Amino acid sequence: MKKLVVLTGAGMSAESGISTFRDAGGLWDKYPVEQVATPEGYHANPKLVIDFYNERRKQLLTVSPNRGHELLAELEKDFEVTVITQNVDNLHERAGSSQVIHLHGELMKVTSTWAPNDPRYIKELSPEEYEIKIGDKADDGSQLRPFIVWFGESVPMIETAIDYCEQADIFLIIGTSLNVYPAAGLLNYVPAHVPVYLIDPKQVPIASGRPVHVIQKGASAGMEELIESLRNL
Ligand code: OAD
Repeated sequence: MKKLVVLTGAGMSAESGISTFRDAGGLWDKYPVEQVATPEGYHANPKLVIDFYNERRKQLLTVSPNRGHELLAELEKDFEVTVITQNVDNLHERAGSSQVIHLHGELMKVTSTWAPNDPRYIKELSPEEYEIKIGDKADDGSQLRPFIVWFGESVPMIETAIDYCEQADIFLIIGTSLNVYPAAGLLNYVPAHVPVYLIDPKQVPIASGRPVHVIQKGASAGMEELIESLRNL
């Protein structure tokens, strides 16, 4: 089976009702990114940051995967699909995708403040107990924090993601403004002969100028069109 590698961003989940970050009215308009998505913001006001992610988790529990997530999961019948996502929601998994690499962490998980990437301290929260509070401790005795890769932190999964990009037979980008590195640079690791598709209702500039098949639609309608194109490939 051909290897289909997919890079997704916030636009993938927009039709599920989760706001994107940089569109008008997006999350970074409402909450200053320095306060809620940097280690400095967390150290300055841990309660604010913990509450912000409690709120995001509460919202996640009320939404469902959309048709785009489902169609992507169904492609596993015909392709070896690897989803590399910048999203911290679990909608790809809930739609049935079996191989998902989370570059920016996972909302339903929490970890140690001292060693956030140490697997011994990463815990999955249950939908019944999705909130954490000041005073909740990881097994190393530090405050529990969200398992989210904040701006300025390292992205440990990037090496794994690069390996998949180098092996891709087809590459697909869905719903990301390609503003945030290192994720935005992954396309540079996809071999030159590999066809690249991009689904997004807006025009997304490709830094390298590499040709891509643009499907200028939302994730669900875009996936329908992509499936047609893949049939004719
Ligand atoms: P952005 O908010 O920057 O970009 C969202 C993209 O989704 C834009 O290109 C939109 O045009 C597109 N979009 C909007 N509606 C869509 C729809 N219905 N279907 C498909 N696409 C749609 O989000 P990301 O590129 O994902 O990191 O942002 C990358 C990272 O920046 C995030 O992972 C997050 C953020 O700060 C962290 O929190 C660490």
